[in-house]
This record gives sequence, C-alpha cells and structure tokens, in this order.
Amino acid sequence: MSKSDVVQRITEPLSPEKFIEMYWPARHYVCHGEANRHISTLHLPENVTVEDIVSLYKNPIMVVGDCVIDASEGITDRFMVSPSEALHWYEQGGALEFDFVDLFIPSIRKTIQELKSFLKLPQGTHGKAVAYAAKNGGGFKAHFDAYANFVFQIRGRKKWMVLENSNVTYPVQHYDLAEYPYMPVELKAYWNGQAPDPTLPNAHEIELQPGSMLFLPRGYWHSTESQEETLAINITFGQATWIDFVLAALRQKLVHDEAFRSLAYNIEMKSFEMNELLKKLPNYVGAITEEDLLQAQSSDLDLYQTTQLVFRQYLSYQ
Ligand SMILES: [Fe+2]
Repeated sequence: MSKSDVVQRITEPLSPEKFIEMYWPARHYVCHGEANRHISTLHLPENVTVEDIVSLYKNPIMVVGDCVIDASEGITDRFMVSPSEALHWYEQGGALEFDFVDLFIPSIRKTIQELKSFLKLPQGTHGKAVAYAAKNGGGFKAHFDAYANFVFQIRGRKKWMVLENSNVTYPVQHYDLAEYPYMPVELKAYWNGQAPDPTLPNAHEIELQPGSMLFLPRGYWHSTESQEETLAINITFGQATWIDFVLAALRQKLVHDEAFRSLAYNIEMKSFEMNELLKKLPNYVGAITEEDLLQAQSSDLDLYQTTQLVFRQYLSYQ
C-alpha cells in the first residue's frame, strides 16, 4: 500500500484533500467501511483481541470507570494496574487504556508517520497510538483533550457523544467535566460561560462499528460507552501552537545571555535583577525572525509526551 493509499483509506469515501478542506483541524468527521479495513491500514496483527494486546503490552495499564470509583471508595475513577490484573478489571466493567501502544506494536508507527506528514504537522509534533478496550457499560465520562484524535474502531459497537466546545477555543490542556467548576488557572484565563451538563444532552450521538473512523478535533467535549466488547486504536497528535514556536525561539535568544541563565531564586519581593531582565526582554522578543520560528518547529514541542515515552520505554525493559 503506498503512502497516499493509506491516508485515502483512512478518510474514504472522502478524498484526503476534501477531508483537509472540510474538516481538518476543527470539525469532527465520521466514516464507516468494511469491518476489517483498519487491520491493514494500521498494520495490526490479524484478528487482534484485547487479550492479545494485554499479552504484548509490557507496561502498566490504566483502568477507568465506576468499578475503580467503588474500589477506591470514591477517591479516584482511574488507576494503573499490571497486565496480569487488567482483564479482571475489564470484566468488572473498567475501560482499559493502553497508552503508547505503538511501543509494543511498532508497525502502527508507519501509519502515524504517513498521517503526520500528510497533515503537515511540525516535525517536533508528537504522534502516538493508544488502544482502548471496554465492555459492560465501560467508557470515559465527558472531557476534552488538547490533542487531535483519529479513532479506528476495530471490534464491537461503541457509542460516542461529541459536542463542539462553546466554552473554550483551541484549548492547550485536557479537562474533565467532573471537575467543574474547579479548573486550572490557565484554563480559566480563556474559559467562557457555563459548562454543559455531564450527560452532554446537545451532543452528536455517534455509533462506531468495526471499520468506522472518527476524527475528533482538539477541544471537543466527548464521552464514550461500550455495551459490548469493543476495541479501538486511536492515533493522537499533539497540537503545537504559535505559543510553543515563540517560546522555543525566545529561549534560543535568551540562552546567549548570562543574566537569563543565572540561578533564579524564590522571589519574595521585587528586585533589581528582575527589573533588569524585564527591561532587556523586549529586545530579545523583537529580535525573533520568521527564520527563528521556522527552526523552532523541529524542536521538541511536547516535553510532557517525551517524558512519558521515556518512562514507558524504561518500564518495558523491567
Ligand atoms: Fe478523550
């Protein structure tokens, strides 16, 4: 299968170009197709099951759901378990999340790369695959993510509720609706209005079947529910912003200046040094050129994901 065929198979019946024109990066898109089509598109093992993934996956697995709330006496709705315990929780109705599953099924990375280059995402963007398995009502409660998500339904029928976000545009953080009205200070800075009801009554209800693909833009509210055994592979891409580019370029300027490299201390009062740094700052900002921003796109644009990846790789060798 050539590179363009892979992207074509992901977006069909729309052409990849039409998908970009009409949906990417801001509108959700669903398409349905032949039940087994994702096996070849994602280079997955034939007839892959949740048990296969549990046995391939040499890392802790996240369990999410009401069974975890009960077991933790209300403290949390998610925790990590070892692969040997995962199926027990799965039977109890917990949804299993296998983050960075491409570490253990590396053939998926071909598709991640092809999609990433087709979408013209900056080189420093993180792309990864995450597998989800659930049954007996398992799923995720309403939340939004800061990344874009391509969902490939492999097994079973799964219900998705998806809703355009009228509270925030272009969020740069994940948010669980259960936390409302508490929210991180940064998110509060660009939040508007009342949050939706946790059941997302105005959402689009979408049923994914084996062979369905859902593109979920960053920031959409969504929740999921599986009444039967479901397995899905998601390919997610970080959504680098101009903030990331500007900060990376600014850092390259500031690093030349000894004063900015000097040890920062626990600031309790305004100081002469701080004042001097702030006086110099506009010159550095003003010196950033388009070439600097172009260079920034190959820097690591998501240190959180890089750290997670290193940690996951380390655990896989234990
Ligand atoms: Fe999500």
